[in-house]
Amino acid sequence: MAKIIAGVSSSHVPAIGAAIDNKQTEEPYWKRVFSGFEKSKEWMAQAKPDVVILIYNDHASAFSVEMVPTFALGCAAEFPPADEGWGPRPVPVVKGHPQLAAHIAQSVILDEFDITVVNKMEVDHGLTVPMNLLFGSPKEWPCPVIPVAVNVVLYPPPTGHRCFMLGRAIRKAVESYPEDLRVVVFGTGGMSHQISGPRAGLINSKFDKAFLDNLTKDPKKLTRIQHLEYMREAGAEGIEMVMWLVMRGALEDKVDEVYRFYTVPASNTAVGHIILEPHRRAAKKSAGKAKKPAGKMKRAAARAKVQRIRS
Ligand SMILES: [Fe+2]
Repeated sequence: MAKIIAGVSSSHVPAIGAAIDNKQTEEPYWKRVFSGFEKSKEWMAQAKPDVVILIYNDHASAFSVEMVPTFALGCAAEFPPADEGWGPRPVPVVKGHPQLAAHIAQSVILDEFDITVVNKMEVDHGLTVPMNLLFGSPKEWPCPVIPVAVNVVLYPPPTGHRCFMLGRAIRKAVESYPEDLRVVVFGTGGMSHQISGPRAGLINSKFDKAFLDNLTKDPKKLTRIQHLEYMREAGAEGIEMVMWLVMRGALEDKVDEVYRFYTVPASNTAVGHIILEPHRRAAKKSAGKAKKPAGKMKRAAARAKVQRIRS
C-alpha cells in the first residue's frame, strides 16, 4: 500500500526562482536563503520519494480570474512550466502520476470532498520553486508530482480547517492505493508577506515562528485561525499559509520535526521551511539499537533530531 512518509513545507517566493535561473545563488543575499535548504536536499536525497503531492497556489498562470477552482487536482501525465511574463522558467517539465491522481480524485470526491479534476495545466513558480529548493536543479525531476492547486488569490479562499480536512482526505486516499509507493506531501506559500497597499513589505516573525511551532505541536489550533487574522498578522498574502495545513492534515497527529529554517527577507517575504515525519517512522528508526530508551530519553532523542537554523 502507498504511504505518506513525510510532509515538507516551504515558501515559494518567485524571486528565489529568478535567483536560481540567473545563477545568483552564491551572492551573499541569496546564499543566506539557499544555505538553509542544503540539509533539506540531503534529507530528500535519502528519503527518495516515489511520488510528491505538491500543494500550491496558481498565480493567474493556469487559471485566470474567469475561472478559479477552490481546490484543483492535476491528473495529467505532465505539467509544463508556465510563462509568467518573462518566458517559462528553465526547469524540467513536471511529470504527473495520472493513476494515483485519478485514485485520489475518486477517493476524495466519493468521500464527499469535491475537488476539480484538471487534465491539462501549466505550473508556475508556486510549484517549481519548492521543487528547486528540495531537489536542486536536475535535468529531470527525480519523481512524479501530483499538483494540488488551492485558491488563495481570489476571495474567498478556503478556511484553514477545510484545508486541513483536505489533507486528511488525501491521506485516506493515498493509504488505500494498492501499489507500494512512498509519498511526500509538500505545503507551499507564505510565510508573512504583503506585496501591495500601505502595509507592503509587512513581515511578522513572531506570528510565523508560532505558526511553525504549532504546525508540529498543535496544528488544530492553527485550523482555527480566521482569514482576517492571517491578513492582520501575516499580511494580505500570508493567507497562503492555509496550504501548509493541507500538508499537516495529511500527516499523523503526532509528528517529529526533523528540520526547520526561517529567514527574512527574500524579496519582500519571510521564508519558512519545515520537514515533518510521522512519529511512528522516527520511533521505528531508533528501534533495534542496543538498549531501548526510556520514555524520557526517547523524547530527548527526538528533540536532538530537531535542527533549527534561524537567522
Ligand atoms: Fe504565492
